[in-house]
Amino acid sequence: MANFVEIRPRELKSALLELDGISRTTIDAHYRLYQGYVVKRNEILGRLGEGDLEAANQVYSALRALKVDLTFAIGGIKNHEIYFEHLGGEGGNPSGASAGLIERDFGSADAWRADLKATGMAARGWAWTAYDWDEGRLFNYLGDAQNTFPVWNATPLVALDVYEHAYFLDYQTDRAAYIEAFLRNLDWSVVNGWIDAYRIPTA
Ligand SMILES: [Fe+2]
Repeated sequence: MANFVEIRPRELKSALLELDGISRTTIDAHYRLYQGYVVKRNEILGRLGEGDLEAANQVYSALRALKVDLTFAIGGIKNHEIYFEHLGGEGGNPSGASAGLIERDFGSADAWRADLKATGMAARGWAWTAYDWDEGRLFNYLGDAQNTFPVWNATPLVALDVYEHAYFLDYQTDRAAYIEAFLRNLDWSVVNGWIDAYRIPTA
């Protein structure tokens, strides 16, 4: 791939090392996984630049393998950049723009929380609260891996990682307790900043 630019992992915010109920050990290990996604994204794009386009084949080819796994690496980067960025807050009920959208599209903060928790319990990787530009509303989408099942033209605003690496050290198999801890550490001011930056309509 000509002209691709190597990227570097974003710095980990210091607040992430002092979360309520998600240990520093877990965050350190989790951040290293994120760094790995960045390394592989750069490696795959480099290899695509050396590849033979004529050998492309849907059963097996280097191009196919690289492009499939590129989606896993990029998904891992994007999902974790949201995850790390919007933790480190005080949790509680949404405020400001996010409060209005959640109230409108889920009925109440409690109903949104219940649906997100259930989506997280039903998922094998991620639950996202996303603004779907075609539907014109928020929805809690479900993912089973870094590259499943994102929906086109939807902007994730909350990314709940439910891979076991996110909680097994702290909670063993008690995912529900981890989800509660995730919610206690959400930073709504970050979410509201994204609503503003992406110009998501709030009226
Ligand atoms: Fe993760």
